[in-house]
Amino acid sequence: MAEVNLIYNKPSLKGEITVPGDKSISHRSIMFGSIAEGRTTVSGFLLGDDCLSTIDCFKKLGVEIELNGTDIVINSKGMDNWKEPVDILYTGNSGTTTRLMLGLLAGSTIHSILNGDASIGKRPMKRVIAPLRDMGAKITGRMDGQYTPLAIKGSPLKAIEYTMPVASAQVKSAILLAGLNAVGTTVIHEKDISRDHTERMLRQFGAEINVENGTVSYKGGQKLHATHVNVPGDISSAAFFLVAGATAENSEITLHNVGLNHTRTGIIDVLNVMGANMDIIVDDENAAEPTGTITIRTSELVGTTIDGELIPRLIDEIPIIALLATKAKGTTIIRDASELKVKETDRITAVVEELKKLGANIEATEDGMIIHGVEELHGASLKTYGDHRIGMMGAIASLLTDGAVQLDDADCIAVSYPTFFEDLIRII
Ligand code: S3P
Repeated sequence: MAEVNLIYNKPSLKGEITVPGDKSISHRSIMFGSIAEGRTTVSGFLLGDDCLSTIDCFKKLGVEIELNGTDIVINSKGMDNWKEPVDILYTGNSGTTTRLMLGLLAGSTIHSILNGDASIGKRPMKRVIAPLRDMGAKITGRMDGQYTPLAIKGSPLKAIEYTMPVASAQVKSAILLAGLNAVGTTVIHEKDISRDHTERMLRQFGAEINVENGTVSYKGGQKLHATHVNVPGDISSAAFFLVAGATAENSEITLHNVGLNHTRTGIIDVLNVMGANMDIIVDDENAAEPTGTITIRTSELVGTTIDGELIPRLIDEIPIIALLATKAKGTTIIRDASELKVKETDRITAVVEELKKLGANIEATEDGMIIHGVEELHGASLKTYGDHRIGMMGAIASLLTDGAVQLDDADCIAVSYPTFFEDLIRII
């Protein structure tokens, strides 16, 4: 556990950052490359701890995966030839690895056991297991499959039509991946649309999939074809520097290679509504995953309300948006976000407790938080709860405070942004 002491005297931030690879897309690139027979190449892969957990799991299934910096080569004999692992598949801190692999392994021909760290052990798995069991999956686990460790006996599956009770791309993707091996057409209805990287990647690997008015459908038994995946930068990582640039005095930061998939750009909508001084240049709107360059400058911000369909489009950015709101005039209300309670930690409690220590005027609600802007934040010792996004929120806060900010454990930041402090130092 590395403790860090961050002492900055309200610096003005200037410079350029090339944002590292998107975590969600990096995971999926390894999964799809392992399903498809042949050689898949990946560029811009995120070398974060979570994505390395995914690589480890697929290596244990006998897939050959070579890393050369952020370029990855996957050689797979196809999903039908995965080896039964002799070891537990260890998913570390990664909910995406755990949940998406459940979907894949359910329709495989092998037996496997998934387990993760203490945080994974507290995260709800019933939301994935229930629809998978409806498809015929044989999954057992602690408290009848509510929690890891989970044992999966691959078995024949049948397609289902499913209406999502919560907006969750992890649940949707687990069902879609199980649907690959299911007899019939898998149909999923979403009220609020969650990130659609799985749907896009299915297309990229040659599957036919229909997406219309919140309904995704596709036929089981389709073969995927190995291809090249270019992973864009992670807007969830860029978010920390977008907030830093908008709130630090006399600042201008340019972020390159930011993924601009509409299902992920809620933070940009919020920054716009709050009055951020920001320019966006889109590189290629028609790419499998669009990207662009964002320049953000010190801004006069006003509070806003964030709720409804916006929430799944910025769910991971809420900790840093809460910090942003402390520096806005007036009140910001975040609601419809009770999903925050079942992330890497309870992010409603963690954000409210830690920002309060810095002098923020913030209160927790049942499904979000209410933040009133303040003139000044001050230094304090913060807990990260082993949650990368809480850690980075604290580090960005240290740029805005009178006095130093200590983080009890900054190692967790490597889960999604291993080069975070290098990039931070570059703009100070
Ligand atoms: C993810 C989906 C989101 C997000 C997580 C990554 C994904 O979770 O919070 O960081 O890659 O599908 P939910 O879909 O459970 O909300």
